[in-house]
Amino acid sequence: ASRNFDVLRSPVICVLGHVDTGKTKMLDTIRRTNVQLGEAGGITQQIGATRVPAEALKERCRKARNFDPDSVKIPGFLIIDTPGHESFANLRSRGSSLCDVAILVVDIMHGLEPQTIESLKLLLKRGTPFVVALNKVDRLYGYESNPQKDIYQHLKAQSSNVQLEFKERYEKIVTEFAENSVNVALSNQNKNTDEYVSIVPTSAFLGDGIGNLLAYIVDYSQDKLAERLAFCTELDCTVMEVRSLPGLGTTVDVILLNGTLKRGDIIVLTGTEGPICSEIRDLLMPAPLREIRVKGDYEHYASIQGAQGVKVLAKGLDNVVAGLPLFVCRRSDELEVLKADAQKQLEKALTSIKKKPEGVYVQASTLGSLEALLEFLKSQKIPYSNVNIGPVHKKDVQKAAAMLDRNAEFACILAFDVPVDRDVQQFADRENVRIFQANIIYHLQDNFINYREELRL
Ligand code: GTP
Ligand code: MG
Ligand code: NA
Repeated sequence: ASRNFDVLRSPVICVLGHVDTGKTKMLDTIRRTNVQLGEAGGITQQIGATRVPAEALKERCRKARNFDPDSVKIPGFLIIDTPGHESFANLRSRGSSLCDVAILVVDIMHGLEPQTIESLKLLLKRGTPFVVALNKVDRLYGYESNPQKDIYQHLKAQSSNVQLEFKERYEKIVTEFAENSVNVALSNQNKNTDEYVSIVPTSAFLGDGIGNLLAYIVDYSQDKLAERLAFCTELDCTVMEVRSLPGLGTTVDVILLNGTLKRGDIIVLTGTEGPICSEIRDLLMPAPLREIRVKGDYEHYASIQGAQGVKVLAKGLDNVVAGLPLFVCRRSDELEVLKADAQKQLEKALTSIKKKPEGVYVQASTLGSLEALLEFLKSQKIPYSNVNIGPVHKKDVQKAAAMLDRNAEFACILAFDVPVDRDVQQFADRENVRIFQANIIYHLQDNFINYREELRL
């Protein structure tokens, strides 16, 4: 494997933070999309990825004073969006483990919140560099927005009341970070980025400060991470999500950090039932500035070089485990070694999906949300006997019906964000299998808790 210091790959940037701090809105403003508006319950429940090409970065960074667009050497950013809702700790952990740099979004009106601190701990544990976006500055009373300006110049032009409120809230948040052993400083005043984490004031909603934030990450990546970002031919590819899509079946979304994936490559992945070996049928990516988790027109590729977020199409991906490497077998004598490597990863993986002989049946559209549901069930001491990714079919109902003879309470399916056709529902009614369906995770959790309480009466 060779490293090429003249060719930098895109840094992978993970956006983390408490629920509703504005992570998705920030990406919407960068992309000029409206993904957040289309989310069920206004919350993110899947991990996502968006590539931001260098041209778009240059254009958006122009607003930051002293930023030289000609200095951009990286081909762009690959940005990973994560959910802030507490149920999705698995996806925050996965996103933060896949990235080179993180953006920790904090709501200036709320300060540090439980999932801010959870995210902070993940970053500190892994030593991942990060920048804090101090978001929703437009909510300072009397704030006047101007997304075209450098945020620091613009703050100086605000009324004295706005400046005072900013200072008070900022200082309170500095103290909260200090209580978590993190020193922070505004990015324009930070002389020592090894000791102090930079903060950039932003309005994800209106766009103020977003240029400063992106410019800071461009400079930081090129100055501090150049070695890490030197393109390497050795494959470094991790499964980010396993997703069932209409017409495509089970697909895997991978973060290809280094190396190249090609159509026809023989891949080896870890599956719950053992190593999976398959051939890449197609490689898909959304257009630039589009989100991989939003169903849309994907572009087809014969070959893709990292760093990119890629949807891999191949047969037999149903039992793939997320968060683990995808290997490519280049020579036939490698295959057994790679399978053994994939098998080794399995033990770690199986602890998160440990089934019981008696328990409920759980189905979800993605592995990430399935894992989140399983964590919830564990916390409630509710066992699960079977899991599946994708729409509910009659065979799922049949499997769930097997519980009627063992423990009728468990003869039910928890179906998150997956369709249940009318004939399947009718079949379930005849078989006495309850199907709980929801597209907001805490609704499903609440419905099931209510059902359990009813049974106890
Ligand atoms: P989760 O993914 O559910 O954790 O939330 P999130 O962090 O992605 O936040 P999201 O983008 O869903 O925004 C939450 C709410 O805050 C939405 O109603 C946004 O319109 C609003 N919001 C986000 N950023 C800003 C901001 O800068 N200013 C104001 N006033 N509102 C904002
Ligand atoms: Mg979101
Ligand atoms: Na939200």
